[in-house]
Amino acid sequence: MIIVGDGDDWKNDIDPILASVIQKRKHAKQNRDFALADAFRDEIGKRFGLAIEDSFVDGSLTSVYRNISEKEAEEKSDRHEKSIVFQLNQRQRQLSKRRPLISAEELATIARARKRLNSKCNSHSKKQKARFEGFSNWLMEHFNSVSHVLDVAGGQGSLCWHFVMKHNVKCTVVDPVSIRLSRQKTQNILQLVKETDAQNSVGLVKDTGILVENFLSCKSSASEEEKQIACNYFASRGGDQVRSLFNAEFQKKHLDLWKSVDLVVGLHPDQATDAIVDLSLESGTPFACVPCCVFPTLYSHRLLRDGTAVRSLEQLIQYLMEKSPDIKCEIVKTIPPPCNTVLYFNPET
Ligand SMILES: C[S@@+](CC[C@H](N)C(=O)[O-])C[C@H]1O[C@@H](n2cnc3c(N)ncnc32)[C@H](O)[C@@H]1O
Repeated sequence: MIIVGDGDDWKNDIDPILASVIQKRKHAKQNRDFALADAFRDEIGKRFGLAIEDSFVDGSLTSVYRNISEKEAEEKSDRHEKSIVFQLNQRQRQLSKRRPLISAEELATIARARKRLNSKCNSHSKKQKARFEGFSNWLMEHFNSVSHVLDVAGGQGSLCWHFVMKHNVKCTVVDPVSIRLSRQKTQNILQLVKETDAQNSVGLVKDTGILVENFLSCKSSASEEEKQIACNYFASRGGDQVRSLFNAEFQKKHLDLWKSVDLVVGLHPDQATDAIVDLSLESGTPFACVPCCVFPTLYSHRLLRDGTAVRSLEQLIQYLMEKSPDIKCEIVKTIPPPCNTVLYFNPET
């Protein structure tokens, strides 16, 4: 059996339990709860003998469900059975000895399962880190002579790092969260400072009175002085931040900053997504945004032109595109899926 898609077209044609697990997995993916999505993937494999591949079909990310080979399915269900027997035995032993409901062994099993899931999530998050390089390279190719980028919802500043350190472009992050230089980034800067004798520019920033604690926080094994050097060097190259929500109020309050930027970007900008598109279009400022989380409950007012409520990433993309015919859309392969559709507005093209 081969099923393509996450169930909207064919959910009435298959086992309703399978349809419901597929729907739950879809929602877990939309909410970026990848551990839960992986748990549903395992369940679909064990209970229904289906393997899942997330791949591109007709240009959009689609889950393809295929039969696992007989042997593989048998082995999987054997393992599943054994684990159920193990759990039942444990519970019987507990009850007969009148011990507390969760034993040390059970706790250890749970801890191992969690560790396995966490390591899966960590490897997922490592892959996802490629988005900063992929997106910044794509932006540099598509927007000419950018000199100052506003990175809305820039989080801990990894995209900003790529603009400043790799592309020599000034970048200001707007996010309530403070940007951070990781241990690796701090070490990279210190190495660069050493190699290029950049103490002069670092000294200049110190003279302007920017304090590390007001500006960037570092987590690193470097000494306090070295951290200060790394932060100041980053600032001297044009890394900056405003710790604030991005909205119309922000735009009014920081009008000079808003006028000075020539590109507004948002990578997985969550609740700032609409504001990036609306405020940039309103003032004719070029923007590029990679939407990710939908928050269908929080934004239940988002409706497509045909009146459909926005509940999936595909619908969010359509909803944003419907704001203006000037918005273009591209799936960028160098940004890891599933959130790798760039919506952009570039009056020059
Ligand atoms: C999923 S994270 C993405 C962070 C970063 N762009 C990345 O790709 O790692 C979403 C970020 O959006 C920020 N955020 C949410 N609403 C915001 C708003 N209205 N204005 C600015 N930042 C916002 C959060 O603080 C969080 O750092």
